[in-house]
Amino acid sequence: MADRIVVVDDDQMSLKLAKRVFDRAGIEGTYLGSGEEAVACFDGTVIPDLILLDIHMPDMDGFEVLKRLKSNPALRNVPVVFLTGDEDVKSETAGLHAGAADFIRKPFAAEILLKRVRNLIELNRLHSDMANEIRAKTEKLSRAYIQIVEALAASVDAKDRYTHGHSSRVAAYSREIARRAGYSAEDEDRIYMMGLLHDVGKIGIQDAIINKTSRLSDEEYAVIRTHPAVGAEILKKIEDLPELMTGARWHHERYDGCGYPDGLKGEEIPEIARIIAVADAYDAMTSNRSYRGHLPQEKVRAEIVRCRGTQFDPRFADIMLTMIDEDRDYLMKEI
Ligand SMILES: [Fe+2]
Repeated sequence: MADRIVVVDDDQMSLKLAKRVFDRAGIEGTYLGSGEEAVACFDGTVIPDLILLDIHMPDMDGFEVLKRLKSNPALRNVPVVFLTGDEDVKSETAGLHAGAADFIRKPFAAEILLKRVRNLIELNRLHSDMANEIRAKTEKLSRAYIQIVEALAASVDAKDRYTHGHSSRVAAYSREIARRAGYSAEDEDRIYMMGLLHDVGKIGIQDAIINKTSRLSDEEYAVIRTHPAVGAEILKKIEDLPELMTGARWHHERYDGCGYPDGLKGEEIPEIARIIAVADAYDAMTSNRSYRGHLPQEKVRAEIVRCRGTQFDPRFADIMLTMIDEDRDYLMKEI
């Protein structure tokens, strides 16, 4: 595809000269005689590769045109080169501050004009190709990151014969509580990840204990209770995301300080872990077990109310209660 250029200059001689240079070089050009024409010409359908803009024009000068062009998102990345008469250091400085890519002095030598225009177009193209590539790679990486975490969470859930999709439900409930609590979208994503990984320590617990349907012995119960610390150890290895272990380590802490593994109390427990704790308990009650189906919604609600302020942070318990009350058809449960 031919390069596309727009030249704006009130001096017809100068326009003619530019046209001759670019026509000969096979560059597609639009030649405009005023700033107003330039502003009106960009309707967003055709984006030029470069704009050559005269500074001194009657009515609307080059600075004003540049300002208007830069405020158009479609044109923001198009390099604008100012055409200046002889020595005009003041204009050049002001132009650079306003976002001009370069200057070309008039009267211009055909060969230099062409060479500089081509260099700038090439440079800008490289720059935008690189930016696009980085964006695509970053998006791909973050998708892969989510998928790896989801796969890890699914492998935890697969160990337990009776809790299907526990991790992803806890993650979804946690995200919703966080959203209602006013967290940013970015924080919501973080808490979703931590929700997915909260039980990752169960990987280190024998299947026989996890899947035991009869009463656990004290020793077995003690083994189960190691899963938050084991999970935190596993996630600590992901050094670039140090906060990832927060949910895993502290989701069994209680607001009154009677939880485990560290017996943290109230605000000592990271907020994210307090959110996951409510979501985790809610899912335990609303999912099916080997020995029972999910509990009736009334009972679940009463249990959240009963444990509000003892097991759960009252603030997040209240959000959970609102979610329950809005869930008229009791859809928020394991099916
Ligand atoms: Fe757990």
